[in-house]
Amino acid sequence: MQHPGLVIAVDGPAGSGKSSAAREVARSLSLRYLDTGAMYRALTWWLLANHVDIASTAAVAQHLRRAKIEIGTDPHAPAIRVGGADVAGLIRTREVTNAVSAVAAVPQVRAHLIAMQREIIARAVAAGEGIVAEGRDVGSVIAPEAPVKVFLTASEAVRARRRSADLAGQPGVTVTVALTQTEQARRDRRDAPQMARAADAVEIDSTDIGLDEVIREIVSLVMSRTAGAVWTS
Ligand code: DC
Repeated sequence: MQHPGLVIAVDGPAGSGKSSAAREVARSLSLRYLDTGAMYRALTWWLLANHVDIASTAAVAQHLRRAKIEIGTDPHAPAIRVGGADVAGLIRTREVTNAVSAVAAVPQVRAHLIAMQREIIARAVAAGEGIVAEGRDVGSVIAPEAPVKVFLTASEAVRARRRSADLAGQPGVTVTVALTQTEQARRDRRDAPQMARAADAVEIDSTDIGLDEVIREIVSLVMSRTAGAVWTS
């Protein structure tokens, strides 16, 4: 039997590998998966596509509810839609990546998306399925009651290398590691106020370890926190 309603929070900066790790942990423990950053990205994509001035807090606050964001929680097929349209690829562009921090800093945006995120987590818990949620403030703000909290880090250089490898897979994109690192440092600074690390989160530094090792460490943390009441498949 699965541990009923288990919530695992995985937070960390861009490029720390938290998305891959969180998704794999959800798959191996048969839990739901929530990528909270994808929701900020989806909203940012919609605002840009609809020519809303994202430098204006008032304009963003006024229009944000017009973006009908839906996010799936299947770790085998993460889906993100706005107004019914699949935006999974569109939200990963450099344009959205460089704009998302400003949108995520708007208090009305955070209130709206955090309410949605809490509801998604509550639904998974009520269904007895459990969920792995990843982002910047899951363990501290969205789900402070989560029994398992991880804060994933890695050196700036390693994060930039991973991120530019991801970007290199996008058609028509040529970015150097150096440029990625510069943009990443800017995003780190802008995201800093949102990066609310929970005091009781366990830090995993992935600078010198691979994804498999990170997953093993998270799963063993889950086992110790739940007295082994979670099955691995
Ligand atoms: O994890 P990511 O790079 O996809 O996140 C995109 C942006 O969204 C990131 O720049 C910060 C913001 N974010 C946030 O403010 N709070 C979260 N829980 C998740 C992401």
